[in-house]
Amino acid sequence: MKTVIRLLPVLGLALSTAVAQDPPAAQEPDLVLGKKVYLQSCVVCHGISGKGDGIVAGNLLVKPRNFTDGRFKVRMTPNGKVPLDSDLYRTINRGMGHDNAMPAWANLKVDEKNAVVAYIKTFAPKKFARQDRAKEIVIPPRTAATVESIAEGEKWFTAIQCGKCHGETGRGDGVSAPTLVDSWGYKIVPPDLSKPWLFIGGSEPVDLYRTLRTGLTGSAMPTVDGTLTEDQTWDLVNFLDYNFIRPGRSVPR
Ligand code: HEC
Ligand code: HEC
Repeated sequence: MKTVIRLLPVLGLALSTAVAQDPPAAQEPDLVLGKKVYLQSCVVCHGISGKGDGIVAGNLLVKPRNFTDGRFKVRMTPNGKVPLDSDLYRTINRGMGHDNAMPAWANLKVDEKNAVVAYIKTFAPKKFARQDRAKEIVIPPRTAATVESIAEGEKWFTAIQCGKCHGETGRGDGVSAPTLVDSWGYKIVPPDLSKPWLFIGGSEPVDLYRTLRTGLTGSAMPTVDGTLTEDQTWDLVNFLDYNFIRPGRSVPR
């Protein structure tokens, strides 16, 4: 007890000096580092001007993103809005599934990843100037994956006709599948839903929730925003999770 009392004045002094000091300057994005990382690791696919026209782009089936038009697929923001920095960071860190050429860059240092995020935003400055106004969706706690919830989800899968593209059994062979084109004019293929390693936005339940609520802008994958409530969206996630992604588990009652 005595030590505590004796320490108090010292603490008080430390506090008052801290208050008197200027707050640290907001950290400026390191665009010099960002450009360096970009030229080292990204330019071969995404191109010097960020248009997705790097030297190997022509050989790729799924084309690298054009960063100049502000359309990004994997986001916490509503359909059509620019992504948050944290979305870009996550995508760069994880890569985008195994069926396209976008690698995971987990081995870059944290400040290198932050810097390259800041750098790719400079390709669409006007779009990203409005970034802070893009409202991030809130992911409510998951609805328990009960038999009822999964059955509800299956009902929605049929009612919203996910099978038109993904096929009634989710194999990616729906009637519309052969005709799908993305908004950049390239053919796009809906994945087999039982192959989660192909998913570009991740296959954990929260990833599925995000993908369904916000859609994958630019691809043919629509959003359920405006069609399903939050609970119904979780029912659909539960159905996808138990039926396609991790089948064969017993369902909690
Ligand atoms: C070997 C080619 C290749 C390299 C190298 C590459 N990318 Fe990509 N990138 C792609 C492809 C292909 C896509 C589109 C994938 C899709 O739409 O399914 C993509 C998409 C993206 C997206 C779009 C995410 C979204 O939500 O739409 C971002 C951001 C991105 N890349 C950042 C980077 C950064 C940063 C680097 C370097 C550190 C990099 N990429 C290096 C091929 C590449
Ligand atoms: C008009 C066609 C179409 C419809 C309808 C459709 N999808 Fe998709 N879906 C796609 C395409 C195309 C992709 C691949 C997108 C990409 O890679 O850019 C996709 C991707 C997905 C993915 C993988 C996400 C990822 O991260 O790669 C899931 C899960 C999915 N869809 C579920 C559904 C569900 C559930 C429904 C019904 C609510 C549905 N889809 C309706 C076309 C469709």
